[in-house]
Amino acid sequence: MKRPCYCILCALAAAAVAALLFVAGPSASAQPPKPISFINDVAPILKENCFACHDTKKRSGKYDMTTFEKIVAGGSNGEPITIGKHDDSEFYTLMVTKEERRMPPRDKGEAVPKAKADIIARWIQEGAKLDAGLAPKADLVKELRVRWAPPVPAEKYSFPTIVNALAFTPDGKQLVVGGHHELTVWDIASAKLVTRVRIRAERAYAMAFLPDGKLAVAGGRPGQEGDVRIFNLAAKPKEMQNGVAILDGVNDPLTMVKQLLDADDSVLCLAVSADGKRLVSGGCDRTVRVWDLTGGVAAAKLEQTVENHADWVLGVALSADGKYLLTAGRDKTAKVWDLKAKESVLTFPEHQNIVYGVAMKADGTVGFSVGADKQLRNWKPTGEGKQIKAGGGHGDDVFKIVAHPKEPLLLTASADKSIRSWNMETLANVKTFQGLTDFVYAVAVSPDGKQVAGGAYDGEVRIWKTDDATVVKAFNASPGYVVKVAATPKK
Ligand code: HEC
Repeated sequence: MKRPCYCILCALAAAAVAALLFVAGPSASAQPPKPISFINDVAPILKENCFACHDTKKRSGKYDMTTFEKIVAGGSNGEPITIGKHDDSEFYTLMVTKEERRMPPRDKGEAVPKAKADIIARWIQEGAKLDAGLAPKADLVKELRVRWAPPVPAEKYSFPTIVNALAFTPDGKQLVVGGHHELTVWDIASAKLVTRVRIRAERAYAMAFLPDGKLAVAGGRPGQEGDVRIFNLAAKPKEMQNGVAILDGVNDPLTMVKQLLDADDSVLCLAVSADGKRLVSGGCDRTVRVWDLTGGVAAAKLEQTVENHADWVLGVALSADGKYLLTAGRDKTAKVWDLKAKESVLTFPEHQNIVYGVAMKADGTVGFSVGADKQLRNWKPTGEGKQIKAGGGHGDDVFKIVAHPKEPLLLTASADKSIRSWNMETLANVKTFQGLTDFVYAVAVSPDGKQVAGGAYDGEVRIWKTDDATVVKAFNASPGYVVKVAATPKK
């Protein structure tokens, strides 16, 4: 028989049970403390404190901790866990040791908080067991993600949403805005909220309508997960809330019709080819993925995966003929990729700073990029990628660039609180769209090209006429949020 344990942990647990008994009165029966669950209690601690160095890529000490099987097997020093004996298990002792060699290493991070190290100790004492139903080879990052449920958005926001993405509906009558764990759909004529679509992603970073009227959305939860999903905004509402239709894009397969990608970090950008047959996305995993939608969304096929940037991919664009893929990176470059030959064509380095967005002239002869150098630049997308011109630009970082659907115009959104339109040939500034009072992260053009929409960090959305920059509508896209008037305006 196993000897009872007298360690401080069990003593504490016993004290807690005693306290419970005392509160509940003598009639309550003694409940043994709930056993530690590996996936619910242990794995989250490892994810937070260890995975940064002990995942499949880094494997510090040849130790990958992202599956139960590998945790038990250990690294170059062999098995780090002695079942039942936490004091004999490096897996635990390295967390709490007073010696120089600690985990995480002393110069690399804070010690694991005592309460959490105690959980690891108890798990080892209880037999270092895996939860029933979980495979020893299961990817823990994925398993933790699956167990996470998104919160239901508040009926009334107490803080403004950050608008990272916008899209006009194909009929041009409504505007879809990225909210907090939801998409909000606004009727443009009345500036009224008509539909709320709950989504798993905390934020939507990019959106595009497909030819069949479905909406592709790239998003994520920073540092946790990212996805590309396709939504049917015409699905039957789950309920009505004060006249607003509520769609369940988390669990209802008639609303969230297809998941193209489930990633470990946010997906930041998205583009759909002019013929709607290709969809590309890029994000924090530095990877660009290209899907073939020739057979429709249901039969979408991942066609290729492009790892061409050394850092986050912040912008993507496709040439009209579908031959070239343009990408913008946090690695301070814009790049061109030949989709058919599956090879890199060129790197455009002139921004010398973060490149946030890319676009291409419809005939494929000119590439455009914007970045943290505040500049709009155009360049030859073939040969050596020579710069044609630095077009000047904005007073601050330029976050987004989109091409007008009908005219040779470009639209850019900036931290200088404005959107500007530019002549594609001369890079002359045509109009400046004003009135937003914070960083402008999102810009969209209506399908007929007559309206431009911008969305800002403080939840404000504005719609202007493209030709004369007069305001059509202005509203805050945070449902129920009462805009607080700041005593001193934010610079
Ligand atoms: C900042 C990076 C970093 C973090 C975070 C980190 N480790 Fe390590 N770990 C290392 C390095 C580097 C080694 C190899 C050198 C060594 O063994 O001291 C290592 C080795 C180990 C080993 C020995 C593996 C073997 O067989 O050689 C164990 C066990 C270990 N870590 C456990 C943990 C645990 C548990 C955590 C989380 C609480 C953690 N580490 C967090 C960097 C890290």
